[in-house]
Amino acid sequence: MSRKALIAANWKMFKTPAEAKAFVDAFLPLVAGHARDEIALFPSPVLLPTVVEAARGSNVAVGAQNIHFAEEGAYTGETSIGQLKAIGGTHTLIGHSERRQYFAETDEIVNQKLHTALKHGVVPIVCIGEVLAEREAGKTADVLKTQVIGAFAGITAEMAAPIVIAYEPVWAIGTGKTATPEMAVDAHRIIRAEVAKLLGAQVGANMRILYGGSVKADNATALIGQEEIDGALVGGASLKPDSFAAIVKY
Ligand code: 13P
Repeated sequence: MSRKALIAANWKMFKTPAEAKAFVDAFLPLVAGHARDEIALFPSPVLLPTVVEAARGSNVAVGAQNIHFAEEGAYTGETSIGQLKAIGGTHTLIGHSERRQYFAETDEIVNQKLHTALKHGVVPIVCIGEVLAEREAGKTADVLKTQVIGAFAGITAEMAAPIVIAYEPVWAIGTGKTATPEMAVDAHRIIRAEVAKLLGAQVGANMRILYGGSVKADNATALIGQEEIDGALVGGASLKPDSFAAIVKY
């Protein structure tokens, strides 16, 4: 299987521009020449120009944590896809659970954002995952399938190649509770089967599915080393250059 792993840092609402620049300056030498995996940083919008500039010409891509689905307009506080591209951002997260939980993002909004990202050639990482009550009620598979179906409305096999999915069980985010590799693999298989059902076996086989939720250097190998797990979306452990570099080199 030739899916190249993607190791992504979601910095959430942390760091000043000076701290972001110091991270990149320290991080790049640690991963120089690392070609086995793709590496991407997702800072707050206000940090994007600084991080893009600092990472220019390196093996590290930079993207947004969120974009608006509209190309422009009266949407106070939002960032457009054109603005992201204009400063050199190449990727975007879509539908992170914190966006769903605190900013009322629905599968329908996620779907609109996915169409916008694809239309403009920005690599989308669509985040899905169940909350604890759903897992405990035995609803994980249903929740994941519903989120995939909702996110992928109107997406065709021809459009799908750039799409990356991140499976982030909400109960594992920022809690120190990681899904076991077996739990993650089970979830990834459910997601991949749903993608294959919607878009065909080839698209299903090629789509990268990342795991996120309390990934650290000491559990990265056990998780990303699984055939079904095509990389990681890392929060807390991505804030320090040495800790994120250790994950990249799992
Ligand atoms: P943590 O790695 O801090 O659990 O965060 C995961 C996450 O939400 C990445 O998007």
